[in-house]
Amino acid sequence: MPQGVQRSVRETGEEEAPSHSCRGEVCETQVVRSYTEWDPLEEVVVGHLDGAVFPAWQASMAATMPESSWNLFREQGGRPFPEPHASAAQRELDTLARVLELEGVKVARPEPANQETGFATPHWQSPGGLYAAMPRDSLMVVGDTIIEAPMSWRCRYHESDSFRTLIKSYFLKGANWLPAPRPQLTDDLFAPDPRAGGYAITEFEPVFDAADFIRFGRDIVVQQSHVTNEFGIRWLERALGPEYRVHRIEVNDPHAMHIDATILPLAPGKLLVNGQRYIPNALFADWEVRVAPAPTLPYDWPMYFCSPWVSMNVLSLDPETVVVESHEEPLIDALTDWGFRCIPVDFRHLYSLGGSFHCVTVDIRRSGGIGTYLNV
Ligand code: GLY
Repeated sequence: MPQGVQRSVRETGEEEAPSHSCRGEVCETQVVRSYTEWDPLEEVVVGHLDGAVFPAWQASMAATMPESSWNLFREQGGRPFPEPHASAAQRELDTLARVLELEGVKVARPEPANQETGFATPHWQSPGGLYAAMPRDSLMVVGDTIIEAPMSWRCRYHESDSFRTLIKSYFLKGANWLPAPRPQLTDDLFAPDPRAGGYAITEFEPVFDAADFIRFGRDIVVQQSHVTNEFGIRWLERALGPEYRVHRIEVNDPHAMHIDATILPLAPGKLLVNGQRYIPNALFADWEVRVAPAPTLPYDWPMYFCSPWVSMNVLSLDPETVVVESHEEPLIDALTDWGFRCIPVDFRHLYSLGGSFHCVTVDIRRSGGIGTYLNV
């Protein structure tokens, strides 16, 4: 740990995790508790692709989605992803779940959902949903609270339903449950021309994807993006209350959507960054920052949703251990050189569907308390 980085609770014993109350119900103590991206992982949700379909097109996607996907989403929205690629991605998710269990982590999976069923509000309709593959997008755990994000893609309107059985069960065992205000997602939310510069969404109502936030104990870092507006950030800031400090960072990403292929803290004082997108500011003055090596994906690999930089979207199991895509040898070498034990797992088929290990998981419990790690 570099000089100046404040010690976490596990090192100092000075700060205890907040005491937990089940308000008279019978419950396990802190079944949900996670403050950072790196403390030892005890329980996690791993997404799945059962019933997954292409998202239905909406104009705001033009700001973030590869141009090669625009017509595909227009024509195939609500229909399944191509085989055998989708089944290979599902197998990769199942393998990840087994690897985590072998590492001693308890793994929970969401409910299957029929994403091919269309739905409507009084203002708009969608021919289908998307998937339950990326719980980091829709859910966020801060301390003992599960937050449901108000996402701006209409096809994702019911996405957290697949996780409701799990959420209800964690609630009954004592977790707090905080769904954000239900967004209306009317046309007022969307910029008239999402390619005209600026963000693809307006400040009509609070929206965010949970994956635009990243947790450093009492400090939470966020990027505004084409799916997260300032209104959404302010809602979360106020909902979390004065115990937490929310820091907005500027990134150089014209397609900004989810912060975890731009910065990712792997241990106290160790920050992995995408050198094309982020130059660390004073927040990380005491941290050792290393630039992620370029991704290794072949240029013709299908990437429907995101850039190959999901290569750096690794998952920390503890401050010394990370799950890394097995083909990303330059990254594995760099992280090994940095002192990490790397667990290689094949995940390239899953890349095609919009993320990697951090995206397809959401922490339920990591040991450790709230801690202070940033220079603020
Ligand atoms: N959404 C992150 C990326 O495409 O790199």
